[in-house]
Amino acid sequence: MNLFDVYPLYNVTPVSAKGMVIIDDKDQEYLDFYGGHAVISIGHRHPYYVEKLKNQLDKIGFYSNAVQNPLQVELANKLGVLSQCENYNLFLCNSGAEANENALKMASFKTGKSRVIAFKNGFHGRTSAAVAATDNEKINAPLNKQQKVTILPFNNIAAFTSEVEKGDVCAVILEAIQGVGGLDEPSNEFFTTIAKLCKENKVLLIADEVQCGFGRSGKFFGFQHHNIKPDIISIAKGMGNGFPVGGILIHESIKASYGLLGTTFGGNHLACAATTAVLDVLENENLIENAAEVGNYFIEKTKEIPEIKGIKGKGLMLGIEFDFEVGELRKKLIYNQHIFTGGAMNKKLLRFLPALNCTREQIDIFFNALKEEL
Ligand SMILES: Cc1ncc(COP(=O)(O)O)c(C=O)c1O
Repeated sequence: MNLFDVYPLYNVTPVSAKGMVIIDDKDQEYLDFYGGHAVISIGHRHPYYVEKLKNQLDKIGFYSNAVQNPLQVELANKLGVLSQCENYNLFLCNSGAEANENALKMASFKTGKSRVIAFKNGFHGRTSAAVAATDNEKINAPLNKQQKVTILPFNNIAAFTSEVEKGDVCAVILEAIQGVGGLDEPSNEFFTTIAKLCKENKVLLIADEVQCGFGRSGKFFGFQHHNIKPDIISIAKGMGNGFPVGGILIHESIKASYGLLGTTFGGNHLACAATTAVLDVLENENLIENAAEVGNYFIEKTKEIPEIKGIKGKGLMLGIEFDFEVGELRKKLIYNQHIFTGGAMNKKLLRFLPALNCTREQIDIFFNALKEEL
């Protein structure tokens, strides 16, 4: 059997990894400023994380949500405290798309309405309603196009007001810092205005924190750079440091009932062990503060390179803009400099998504390599 050929692949075969370093099948080391697409939050094979997962595997790896699982309760408590979202309840699932799918479904259940407002260049996953809310025609099949979604630009309050006041909207979904789209952010005025208009029009506000959450932006959640409180927060990626896990934080004003949401694998013992380990490391090693601090250092360093036309993002979710497409540059960084970086829908943006314990010295290595290749 062949693999279904949907990914254009770089010719690199990682076989092991440690911290910020990936080692391939020829023993070549690479510095990982891509984090497997913002997934590696505490570094590859962090010893505390490895030990927690191994210990858990030695006890019980999985059982269904039909029985008590104290690991879920422990995780919810830790997450509530560290993210300062104690007045939310947690539903666990397995991926970012699934998190958004459940978030949108909850909004529709709660409001009894079905239209969604999403934003230009937003990315929310590849499943039913999540992909319909994603601003990319090419990945929407006719089946997905049946969903009622209106895509609006960021920062146009008049356009937003006229849509949200029509009375049929169940949810507004947005990323505080766009990932795949290319690191655009809503202005503070726009974000706070839409939060207010959502309340006034009984529309639920969903913060898609799948990529910018879990400390990546230099605060636990990206929306926390603004003074707003979403109704639902979706999480995944950095949450499991590579273990497939996702979830939604649902404001306590939204009530649960048996059978409303459900999943076979979500919240399994291994996923809980992985996520709790990530939370412990984020806290014990002050990684969110490090993301903010080292991110600022990165921004300062960009000033040394005249070819850089702009810098976008926050913390360790950053993008540098050039006046040329960066595809070739990414290849040169991988094959000549042994450095992984990310791309975006904006083809002139080079994305930088390292583990949150990335150091200034590693950033210096990146900039020296970049200078050589430019
Ligand atoms: C903001 C955002 N939401 C949702 C998703 C989908 O997550 P997953 O690929 O885990 O389904 C992504 C993935 O890149 C994302 O960046």
